[in-house]
Amino acid sequence: MTNIPPKLKKKETKFTVEVIPKKIPYVQYEHAIENIKRANDLVKSIATGTVFNASSEPEELHSVDDMDDNLDLQLLNESQERAVQEALKNPFTVIQGPPGTGKTVVGVHITYHFHMKNNALEAECPNQPPSLVQDASLNKNIPPKKRGILYCGPSNKSVDIVAEQLLKLRRVLKPLRIYCDQMEMREYPYPGSELKLCRRSLRDEKPKEVLRDISLMYLVRLPGNPYAKEIIAFEDGTVEFDTGRYKEVLKKAQKHELLKHDVILCTCSTALKPILMQTMDFRQILIDECAMATEPEAFIPLVSHKPEQIVLLGDHKQIRPIVTCARVKELGMEKSLFERYMDQALMLDTQYRMHESICEFPSNEFYGGKLKTGTKQRTCLLLDKNNRQTAILFGHVEGEEISLAVSTAAGNEHSVANELEAKQAVRVANLLISQSRVKPEDIAILTPYNAQMSKIKEMLAQKKDQAIQDVSVCTIMKSQGSEWRYVIVSTVRSCTRSEIEKESYTSKGWLGKKLGFTTDPNQVNVTITRAQDGLCILGNRHLLNCSELWRRLLSHYREKDCILDSAEDIKVVKVRRS
Ligand SMILES: Nc1ncnc2c1ncn2[C@@H]1O[C@H](COP(=O)(O)OP(=O)(O)O)[C@@H](O)[C@H]1O
Ligand SMILES: [Mg+2]
Repeated sequence: MTNIPPKLKKKETKFTVEVIPKKIPYVQYEHAIENIKRANDLVKSIATGTVFNASSEPEELHSVDDMDDNLDLQLLNESQERAVQEALKNPFTVIQGPPGTGKTVVGVHITYHFHMKNNALEAECPNQPPSLVQDASLNKNIPPKKRGILYCGPSNKSVDIVAEQLLKLRRVLKPLRIYCDQMEMREYPYPGSELKLCRRSLRDEKPKEVLRDISLMYLVRLPGNPYAKEIIAFEDGTVEFDTGRYKEVLKKAQKHELLKHDVILCTCSTALKPILMQTMDFRQILIDECAMATEPEAFIPLVSHKPEQIVLLGDHKQIRPIVTCARVKELGMEKSLFERYMDQALMLDTQYRMHESICEFPSNEFYGGKLKTGTKQRTCLLLDKNNRQTAILFGHVEGEEISLAVSTAAGNEHSVANELEAKQAVRVANLLISQSRVKPEDIAILTPYNAQMSKIKEMLAQKKDQAIQDVSVCTIMKSQGSEWRYVIVSTVRSCTRSEIEKESYTSKGWLGKKLGFTTDPNQVNVTITRAQDGLCILGNRHLLNCSELWRRLLSHYREKDCILDSAEDIKVVKVRRS
């Protein structure tokens, strides 16, 4: 301990000591870094930056074309196919997937081929993983581990998306989704579990219904599992609860399931569950959305196992890891493991999400103009200045900012709202539903600020129309990985014209105060790449114009005649009820 005030050292001084435990994720991060020295050579070389892929012998590949035609999988484009080939032959592969370019599709293909390779190995030398040799020195008869693939992501959402896609491969491989202990405790409480639950950290996260059949927590309680009855008896109070015994049975049940599965899906932090380390021999590890994970977080799965092949999928041009401590940020924690290796990343170059004109600006701004659009005809229901149909639109709003305190998973924070802009966002959503007949669930209103999100949700709730309640309202941070047909963006920040003219807006401090993280390029990129058919941005164009990035965006929109002087004038195509 440092900086102890001298007064405290005096005998007569009375004081209380409050011990604040370090948060579990931080303990896990430290543990991961500490364990790099015990990791295998591949992981060590990734950590020290000395990894290189010299695939000497052209490995015998299951040709990508060999895939079972009956599997309901996308045919790959050229850049995707190359990424899959590289991932199969190299120990370490980094794949950059700009929005909608099929990172997850590529990950699913790679998983299929890894699985085929593991199967072939299994047939050649069944149950002979290296772990058995090591343990033999201890003179213990430890059963061999099960060969498998570990597929991780930094958030439950990122893992659920992959898990859902992997359901398509269920005829050839068995995926297993493992949620964290906290989530399991909430779904299946037992005497005393209440005390261990940290509700704040889970908030609205729930196990996904479509993944029920492949979730470990459900499977261990189904009749197919020999320990299910015992577990349920403890939980419903039929037998007297005994924590030790309960945990032991649960472990046996989990092990029973693990041994039956091939691909384990969990968050990076859940990958260090002891039962996984004891039961599974993960030859391959994939991390999706890896550019959103801090470097220590990405190392959790890597150091907890002994992978021979590692694939990182992500995009360092989208949301970076969230680091709240200024000092830690300064020291570089926002740079992910993925970003550290961006120079050797293979880029997927064709996106299938956005209308070509939505893609044009982000492609030029963030991807050196290399992002192509996969063919798909789309309808445009927004109207530009000349009443022509358009997929992009900017509506000027000069509302008033109000500063509010909101409660978030990370604690209370100051946030900003703008009522006038919220009203316009709701009005545009309503127009799209009532006049263009767009389904409410195909529309999202995105905003950088929690307070604005609450305000918009409040406004929607007050509407008598039940349908509009199905419009998604979410923060930009939470929107990565999602897409909607129509996206309305509320940028929130505003000030008077005179304030802008008075201030020299070249000053960085002033800009930071006035626009905050609305100018963060990674956030802007995610914001403008969520929409498939229509993107409508609302904001104060005079203020946004002070940021270089936004100035380029506005000038692009102006060239296309897609800026309206007042958001009040936003109109949409009327579609007759069929
Ligand atoms: N080769 C392809 N041909 C046609 N559609 C594709 C192809 N690859 C991906 N897609 C589609 O593009 C969309 C985005 O794919 P996804 O894997 O979710 O991207 P990402 O993970 O990069 O956001 C999905 O609807 C997917 O079906
Ligand atoms: Mg994805």
